Amino acid sequence: MSLITLGIESSCDETGIALYQTGRGLLAHALYTQVAMHNEYGGVVPELASRDHVRRVIPLVRQVMRDADVPLARINAIAYTQGPGLGGALLVGASVANALAYTLDIPVIGIHHLEGHLLSPLLSDPAPEFPFVALLVSGGHTQLMRVDGIGQYTLLGETLDDAAGEAFDKSAKLLGLGYPGGPALAKLATSGRTGQFKLPRPMLHSGDLDFSFSGLKTAVLALVKQQACFPHPNPLPQAGEGANESLREFQIFEQTRANIACAVQEAIIDVLAFKARAALTQTGLRRLVVAGGVGANQLLRSRLNEDIGKRGGTVFYPDLEFCTDNGAMIAFAGALRLAQQQANKDYRFNVKPRWNLTEISGHPYTPLTPSRSP
Ligand code: KG4
Ligand code: ZN
Repeated sequence: MSLITLGIESSCDETGIALYQTGRGLLAHALYTQVAMHNEYGGVVPELASRDHVRRVIPLVRQVMRDADVPLARINAIAYTQGPGLGGALLVGASVANALAYTLDIPVIGIHHLEGHLLSPLLSDPAPEFPFVALLVSGGHTQLMRVDGIGQYTLLGETLDDAAGEAFDKSAKLLGLGYPGGPALAKLATSGRTGQFKLPRPMLHSGDLDFSFSGLKTAVLALVKQQACFPHPNPLPQAGEGANESLREFQIFEQTRANIACAVQEAIIDVLAFKARAALTQTGLRRLVVAGGVGANQLLRSRLNEDIGKRGGTVFYPDLEFCTDNGAMIAFAGALRLAQQQANKDYRFNVKPRWNLTEISGHPYTPLTPSRSP
């Protein structure tokens, strides 16, 4: 039976809505990014994020229904991001999903945000077959997973502190770049010269598949201070944490800045590529799937393609637009769950700002346990 699932993503600073039809694929999707709003503050302001989701979610649902020419009455289920993420932001998607599903008398499915990312390469052609190793690299997570099927996830290694995206974002901030830092740093690095600065590759030879990126930020700060030609004559007023640690106070030659960006990117990618290779060796698998915002990084993609390709492996990525947060991956994960009869009509909902992906792994999906108070 060809079922239509509406997906709602609102875990952080993007409102993403999509319609997925089993057997046909993605019917329509829309995204509103709050990046410009948060850029002013140098990072995501949770309260502003929630309020903006409230403003965007219904108009975006309407837009997607119009674009796909599908009336509400034809939707068979609604999937929403149940966690992890910002509590208030998650509640917006969760309440709209449950209220709409209740009104339409259709099942609702709470999706783990990382499962959405993890399965997003399956939306592409060719799609990877199970089993594969997944490298999940987002702003909040860096994990290597063995994926044997839908809901069958084994954690192989993860970051002990900062995520890879966070390392990009924090280093970018130190270099005086805006939020989100990853794409900005990658862009600056294109005019940088490689090999000018050497930054640490934390835990490269730790012998396991774990990561650590917090030391990199400290090393970048030291480098920025060392390379500053002189203190800034008119430092900007200190605007909260990290302000006095950025280029607000230091002047640095543009080329040096680009060279540092290059060194940061190299360091992060070296570690990610090394551990991804090690994960394939350890599991004996040949397919690597890369998901999450950092997966949009072109240097990471070319490095992995080359490294893994040389060893007879294949790397799969989601389409660029589905690397960062989006509604399509939630609608798709919801459709797969629906096919496994893992949706229900219990509209009491909770959200899970902290939620480990392994909690839904290794056994059939545990449906949402309702709680009275969200
Ligand atoms: O998956 P995502 O959109 O949101 C989370 O679930 O966290 O990932 C956002 C992260 C940010 O840290 C952002 O700086 C990073 O992905 N990112 C990149 C690139 N595009 C996004 N990092 C490096 N290079 C990029 N091109
Ligand atoms: Zn994400």
